[in-house]
Amino acid sequence: MTSHDIEVMRVGAAQILRFNRPVKKNALTGPMYAALADALEQGERDSRLAVHVFLGSGGVFTAGNDIGEFLASSSDDGTTLMSVLRFINLLPRIEKPMIAGVEGLAVGVGATLLFHCDMVLATSDARFQTPFVDLGLVPEAGSSLLMPQRLGYARAFEMLVLGHVMSAERMREAGLVNAIVEAAELEAAVLKVATALAAKPPEALRLARALMRGDTKAVSRRVEEEAEIFAQRLRSPEAREAFQAFLEKRPPEFKRG
Ligand code: COA
Repeated sequence: MTSHDIEVMRVGAAQILRFNRPVKKNALTGPMYAALADALEQGERDSRLAVHVFLGSGGVFTAGNDIGEFLASSSDDGTTLMSVLRFINLLPRIEKPMIAGVEGLAVGVGATLLFHCDMVLATSDARFQTPFVDLGLVPEAGSSLLMPQRLGYARAFEMLVLGHVMSAERMREAGLVNAIVEAAELEAAVLKVATALAAKPPEALRLARALMRGDTKAVSRRVEEEAEIFAQRLRSPEAREAFQAFLEKRPPEFKRG
């Protein structure tokens, strides 16, 4: 599956996956998830490829899942959700390093995918947000496990439940972001890391990464548990109201009791 909203490029031994739908802040649609999953799978099979790189465009990483598609997916045949799940299920199974260069907004899956990356470089204006609960949803992509592990429970709760926006500096202090770089330098800095990784002995790199990741089955299990609840929540009155409100550019009104 290809989608022109995902640009797939090779630079040396790096595969660049670029979110490229700037008019919608690079919000991800079913075909975009399918294109990402295809590229990751092909890249994993290609022995010439050393590293996967995620980048945004138009000064934004990604505003997360397309909310219009969330709303439609609560009544469609499930095709969109299948593409989302295929991509998300793949993340803990990737064996080659993944690096991200984050400029501007990284929302929803744009933030949770970073917890599967090996290195994250960000600009000082990068903003990280996971407003799942505000949307009537639950955390996804293993974030209910990985974020408390990486950030500590309190910071993870602040992000995953309160939906607080985190700055690049806060994420650097918390250990998610390796370095903050100028926007004009971001892609060159990310490619420099990719080139350094590509120069490593491939088998030693693979084994070292696998040892550092440990048993990823627990992450995969959590991704599946989350996905089951997430799929139910998509159809909930709370989520539908939150999606409608976003699309109608008004505050949501949630019923209590
Ligand atoms: N899904 C669908 N469309 C989205 C989107 C998303 N996740 N994020 C942004 N867009 C669209 C907006 O609806 C708008 O479309 P329009 O020009 O047709 O009205 C366009 O992208 C520009 O977004 P806008 O909201 O005007 O930009 P902003 O700079 O004021 O705000 C965000 C940017 C990302 C803070 C805001 O758009 C937002 O909160 N988006 C939703 C993020 C989200 O909750 N994602 C899901 C996480 S699970």
